This record gives sequence, structure tokens and C-alpha cells, in this order.
Amino acid sequence: MPATDLSYVLVTGGAGFIGSHTVLELLNQGYNVVVVDNLCNSCEEPLHRIEKLARIERLPFHKVDLGDIDGLRAVFKQYNISSVIHFAALKAVGESVHKPLTYYRNNVAGTLNLLDVMIEFGVKDIVFSSSATVYKNDPEGRPFREDYSELGSNSPYGRTKLYMESIIRDVSDAESGWNAIMLRYFNPTGAHESGLMGEDPLQIPNNLMPYVSQVAVGKLDKVHVFGNDYNTRDGTGVRDYIHVMDLAEAHVVALKRLVEKRGYEIFNLGSGEGQSVLEMIEAMSVACGHKIPYVIDPRRSGDIDTIVCDPTRANKELGFQVTRNLEKMCQDLWRWQVNNPNGYNQ
Ligand code: NAD
Ligand code: WQD
Repeated sequence: MPATDLSYVLVTGGAGFIGSHTVLELLNQGYNVVVVDNLCNSCEEPLHRIEKLARIERLPFHKVDLGDIDGLRAVFKQYNISSVIHFAALKAVGESVHKPLTYYRNNVAGTLNLLDVMIEFGVKDIVFSSSATVYKNDPEGRPFREDYSELGSNSPYGRTKLYMESIIRDVSDAESGWNAIMLRYFNPTGAHESGLMGEDPLQIPNNLMPYVSQVAVGKLDKVHVFGNDYNTRDGTGVRDYIHVMDLAEAHVVALKRLVEKRGYEIFNLGSGEGQSVLEMIEAMSVACGHKIPYVIDPRRSGDIDTIVCDPTRANKELGFQVTRNLEKMCQDLWRWQVNNPNGYNQ
């Protein structure tokens, strides 16, 4: 029997970038939260920052790897868990090409363990971190939609997301009373507006915005723009950037929707608008107050010109709309970067 009657949301990967911001939002909206993370791409400091911002003494945290099914069981035994938000995964596209088994084992086998334990303990509600990467390139460049865009990814990482979506769908079909929401994020960026929490890549960033902000603060020399010969307004890649706090709020909206018992659902999370690499560099220059140096390099293998979502379903059915614009994303990202030039590891 759990030691307490309080019900908890279990957040896997809650020490990571998106997970930590979501945990804070959950606490601010009155949920009890327990975090499971193996800290393979994070550290405990964001959890302490959450405690400070949410004014709580201690955020329940268990350093458990999803590969450790007994470790997971122990957490489900200790807390009365009502639902799960599942962020924990490896996410580096390039690395996944070289280490596919590591990705399948961590992401897919880890999810199998989590689902097994959920079934064992009668937990039936899950929100899953999916990604724009599950969509196949659209030859006509249309915004991606949940109902008609073709699926298919060109990396092992992307395929782990596709497989995990399918596995969760099969489990929710097979088990009675299961409700699952897949949230397909486009390009998350920004940081908490306090400047206390943000993205803290442990290595040289793979993604554009953490790279740009590290150049802005002087940790890296210049941005390498991967190609300026794409079929876009200035030739550089266009993406749909979303503020991490908009994403965090969307998870709480999704959690509330789970109680409506609608079975399995999928929602894109993005603004529906695209910005080019050069526009992002310019917006960040405005936020930090100085020019950000860049060079044009060859295209990065596997990239395409435009990835933008159609957010209609999330707008209409979830009632979710982004509220933070590009200027706000860059201001918050800059505040985090300049206050924490070395991330959480001061
Ligand atoms: P992140 O690496 O900052 O967070 C993931 C967390 O999961 C980390 O704290 C890591 O230590 C933990 N983790 C990984 N494997 C684990 C395991 N086996 N057991 C326990 N903990 C484990 O990444 P993020 O940017 O916060 O992404 C969160 C989720 O969102 C991931 O599932 C990612 O695939 C997905 N996603 C991210 C993006 C993005 O651009 N950041 C876009 C789309 C989808
Ligand atoms: C954005 C644009 C690059 C870095 C990735 C994953 C996707 C999802 C989100 C997890 C592109 C250009 C980048 C740089 C650059 N993650 N760029 N110089 O590739 O849209 O999506 O993150 O699910 O699965 O693939 O994001 O930030 O890497 O790139 O010019 O140093 O910036 O070519 O046009 P991407 P990104």
C-alpha cells in the first residue's frame, strides 16, 4: 500500500529540459508530482530550482533507469500514482544513427517496462512526448497534420518515437479504460522567465537555439548555418518554434483531458508559423543586444527545407493555443543563458 492517499503524477525524465518546466507548471497548478530520471542527460539542480520556484520543501525524486523494472515497481508501490507523463528518452538524432540499439533499448524497451508496471498497478492514463520527426517529408511542403500527413522517420531516434506511439496505441486498445495522449512537439526553445531554468546541453548543442545562445554569450565562436540554398524565403531552413512554457502548459491541459476518457489521441504542438535560421539568429541578436556571428556551411545530412505544423486540432479540441511569441522565446532564452553561462553546473 502507498504510504500516502495523495495521488501523484509520475513524470519520467522530469529533470530534463521539457520535463522540468512541466513539473514546475504541474506543481503551480496544484498537482502532486514524483519524478523518475536516471540523470543520463541532466542533473539534480533543476529539481532544486523547481523547489525554489514552486516554494516547496522537497520534490519527490527517484534516480531510476527505465531499464530497471524493479526500481520502477518500487516507485509505483511507494506512491499512489494516477497518471504518467513520459518524457524520458534519448533524443540526439545523429547519435541514434551510430548507436541504434542504444536508442531502441533505452527508448522502446524502457517504455515497455513503464507500460508493464502501469498495467500491474492499474494506472491507465499517460501523456507521451512524441515529435515532429514522426512525419514523413511532405513533397508539397504542407504543414503537418495529425489526420492526413504520412508517417515515417529517417532516423533510428525518430523510429523509436513512431514505435512507442504504436505500442502505446496497442496497449490502450487492449487494456480496458486506458487513455493516452501523444503530443508531437515541433521545435521547443525558450526558458522559464525567472532565468532560473532552461535547456542545459551536456555537450556542444546539436539544436539551433542552444547553439545560438551559447554563441551569444561567448561560449562558442560563431553559428554554423547549415545551408542557404533551401527553397525558403531566405534559403535557410524553416522550423516551427514553440516556447517551452507553452509546451509545459499544454501537458497540463492534456492531463486534464485524460479524465474525459477519450481513449487514444494525437496532437501537434507548435505555433503553425515558421521561422528561418537567419530570422532566429536575428531575433536572438535583438534579445541579447549585439550581433551574433555566423557562417554559411553546407547542408546537414537529413535536413529538409520546411517543418511547420497545422495546430488546428490542438487549438480546437484541446483548447490549447501558444501565447508566447518569438521575441519572448529569445528574451527568456537569453535571460537563462546570461544568468547561467555554464548551465546548471555553475
Ligand atoms: P532531455 O534530454 O533534456 O530530457 C530527457 C530526460 O530523460 C533526461 O533528464 C534524461 O536523463 C532522462 N532519461 C533518458 N533516458 C532515461 C531512462 N532510460 N531512464 C530514466 N531517465 C531517462 O530532453 P528534452 O528535450 O526535455 O526532451 C524530452 C522528451 O521530449 C524526449 O522524449 C524527447 O524525445 C522529446 N522531444 C524533444 C524535442 C526537443 O527538441 N527537445 C522535440 C520533440 C520531442
Ligand atoms: C533547426 C534548423 C538546421 C543547428 C530536431 C530533431 C527533431 C526534434 C527537434 C526531437 C535546421 C539548422 C541547426 C545548427 C543550423 N527533436 N541548424 N545550425 O533538425 O528541426 O529538429 O530537434 O524530437 O526530431 O530532428 O532542429 O534545432 O537541429 O535545427 O543551421 O548548428 O536549424 O539545419 O534548419 P530540427 P534543429
